[in-house]
Amino acid sequence: MTSHRVLRHSALVLGLATCLMASARDGGPAVPPVDAVPANGLARTPPMGWNSWNHFAGRITAEDVRGMADAMVANGMRDAGYVYVNIDDTWEGVRDASGAIRPNDKFGDMKALADYVHARGLKLGIYSSPGAKTCAGFEGSFGHEDQDARTYAKWGVDFLKYDYCGARDQYPVTLENQQALFRRMGQALRRTGRPIVYSLSQSGQFDIWKSGPETGANLWCTTPDISDDWSSMSERGFRQLDLAAWSGPGHWNDPDMLEIGNGGMTVDEYRTQMSLWSLLPAPLLAGNDLRGMDAETKAILLNREVIAVDQDPAGLPARRLETQGDVEVLVRDMSDGSRVVGFFNRGETPARVTFPWSRLGQRFAKPRNVRDLWNHRSLPTNEGYDGSLPRHGSVLLRVGAASET
Ligand code: GAL
Repeated sequence: MTSHRVLRHSALVLGLATCLMASARDGGPAVPPVDAVPANGLARTPPMGWNSWNHFAGRITAEDVRGMADAMVANGMRDAGYVYVNIDDTWEGVRDASGAIRPNDKFGDMKALADYVHARGLKLGIYSSPGAKTCAGFEGSFGHEDQDARTYAKWGVDFLKYDYCGARDQYPVTLENQQALFRRMGQALRRTGRPIVYSLSQSGQFDIWKSGPETGANLWCTTPDISDDWSSMSERGFRQLDLAAWSGPGHWNDPDMLEIGNGGMTVDEYRTQMSLWSLLPAPLLAGNDLRGMDAETKAILLNREVIAVDQDPAGLPARRLETQGDVEVLVRDMSDGSRVVGFFNRGETPARVTFPWSRLGQRFAKPRNVRDLWNHRSLPTNEGYDGSLPRHGSVLLRVGAASET
């Protein structure tokens, strides 16, 4: 062989080896394409509820889920709008002879659990993966998509989180494969005829916010998993501002579940998560143990004036108006013509903010009213805001335009 041919030969061998490694790593063949799934008309405002993963991970049991449902009724969360009680990974057992998925021993009778949750005016959510196994190694929906969707509908499930993670070993990780697999379950859910909110989880790969709507999904996680610390939470939250164009009624960008009450952040930081998620707006899925919450955690999760911002029917996105040193100033239009302005101190020391109302536009230069949504009081309408924000703290103000004369 000439040296030229040797080179080509080794390149070929190397190419083949890389290809074999890739297919061994990524799994089998391409998934046949699936038609786009029409919107299901659900989740006109960001879904609100609770999810088991952040606090319980693999330890979640049916008894805990019943406990969360009871707590949500007793502590006022249900009445404030938190309705989905979502079981994340590790509920799955083995399939029966007909291939139907069964819950494992931690869960027993899923229909009975759904009935329990529904009897309290709440809705039940569940979790699966397009892989043969889920992310935590439990039974996934591979090859059983229609059957699983029918089983969920029979149990009375109202929400499905569908996590690509477990499918990585099975299919090459490509946009086309993910789209086909997510659409496949989207079609299956649609065929059940039951209204089931559809939530995608795949860490935001391939700009999921662009292909998500045609899978029939109502929300998609735009980031890798959140953790209970300031940098994880704040980076995820602020990054959503760049993706705002792809989020709105029925199809929401999801910066992941809330960590409020899990203990790793300060009260100011948790308040900032609630302020930011509501202003974006993003789904509000509490991720803590709702039994025996302290007063501060309750006051954050149950702040109805802030929840009303999240749930504003127009679902318009927040935008960055300006920055003042470490302080980000975000603003959002509400359906009643008011604007909500948020000041967020991302710095490590307290920060002063001065903000004339005229920065919100001419109609707001002499506002009709200004409401402080965390202190639940009206502020003077003259001139503007002048205040100090603690490290990592935030202020949310709802500003009414001057009345027309
Ligand atoms: C991850 C997902 C988490 C949780 C976990 C369960 O892929 O991002 O939110 O659902 O799987 O195994």
